[in-house]
Amino acid sequence: MLHGKHILVGVTGSIAAYKSAFLVRELIKKGASVRVVMTPASFDFITPLTLATLSKHPVVSSFTSDPGSGEWNNHVEMGLWADLMIIAPATASTLAKMASGQADNLLLAVYLSARCPVYFAPAMDLDMYQHPAVQENIRQLQRFGNRFIRPGSGELASGLVGEGRMAEPHEITALITDDLAQDQPLKDKKFLLTAGPTHEALDPVRFIGNRSTGKMGFAIAEAAAELGAEVVLVTGPVHLQTKHSGIKRIDVRSAREMLHACLQHWPDAAVGILSAAVADYRPKTTAGTKIKKKDPFLLLELEATTDILKTLGQKKEAKQILIGFALETNDEEANARKKLHAKNLDMIVLNSLQDQGAGFGHDTNKVSFIHKSNKFTSFELKSKPEVARDLLSAVMEILL
Ligand code: CTP
Repeated sequence: MLHGKHILVGVTGSIAAYKSAFLVRELIKKGASVRVVMTPASFDFITPLTLATLSKHPVVSSFTSDPGSGEWNNHVEMGLWADLMIIAPATASTLAKMASGQADNLLLAVYLSARCPVYFAPAMDLDMYQHPAVQENIRQLQRFGNRFIRPGSGELASGLVGEGRMAEPHEITALITDDLAQDQPLKDKKFLLTAGPTHEALDPVRFIGNRSTGKMGFAIAEAAAELGAEVVLVTGPVHLQTKHSGIKRIDVRSAREMLHACLQHWPDAAVGILSAAVADYRPKTTAGTKIKKKDPFLLLELEATTDILKTLGQKKEAKQILIGFALETNDEEANARKKLHAKNLDMIVLNSLQDQGAGFGHDTNKVSFIHKSNKFTSFELKSKPEVARDLLSAVMEILL
């Protein structure tokens, strides 16, 4: 759920600092990239080594890495890197400094530089927490737009019982995940995607296939899920894994199976992006047993498969968006436009085999988008994840 998110965890000097280790672990498990900034006071409660190991990044705590080295930890860069910052635990002293804009340690300087949403999870003893000064600082921080994570009630480290216990790491991650889901532009939109080749069986051990690796379709699936879409990815046989938990993957082998899965998921989909290299022909019959080597020639009779993209185009409702791919070697633009109209598409992604680094098997692609309005946009050679993001920006322009 937090895949691709950059999260800065700020740790201050409270006994609850041990919970930061669990928080970092939960965030990493949910796919976030985490960096930790500590106040010097927090070193008494948890070691930087623990948090560096869990976050897989060095922990920072002072303005310079090594006194006299001339190197410094750039708080502005850290603030810009972060998609969100969580200060947990936040002590009474840190809350007071945040509320009054002081920057006498790196964590506070990063907080003041951060442009992203900032969450703070106070942790302190009952009477400190109830003091009007602390309560006023919490209100002030909320007025600044920071998100307050209310402490829990229970037995405190001092032995007193009441409010002040830092929220549990799983509660913090749940809150953040919910908030992020609210902000996602493709929330509640179902995307139907196809990827990879199809294998058309000749006999139990042989098939007709092609060299598609599925990388483009999988990159589109990850990018759409990161923007909050509910993704159904119908894929032919590939050696790829999906990472985002928002992707429902349906593995198929043949064009017929792919068509069947697509027909099931198209009616309630908002967007269809079909990048699979579907076989245009399949063997007319599939032998039930292995075909034996007998004659010097073997004639295979093939029949056309159903064009999945065209079928979805025929069933397309006015509010649905359908996008196809065209891999061309000559008269690229004219051929792609023909496909766009023949298949009732909103947009077609053209890749030319004339361009180096484009098409099957590469980690890169060079594409042009042709809209049904005739708008034409050409892109540089880019990584497939970057092409996927460009494609989703174009989809969002049509959709939202
Ligand atoms: N497509 C499909 N089902 C098929 C064949 C193709 O969904 N049976 C989709 C592909 O996923 C892609 C687009 O159609 O989005 C490609 O169009 P197509 O006309 O098949 O292109 P080519 O296979 O390159 O056709 P041609 O060989 O005629 O150029």
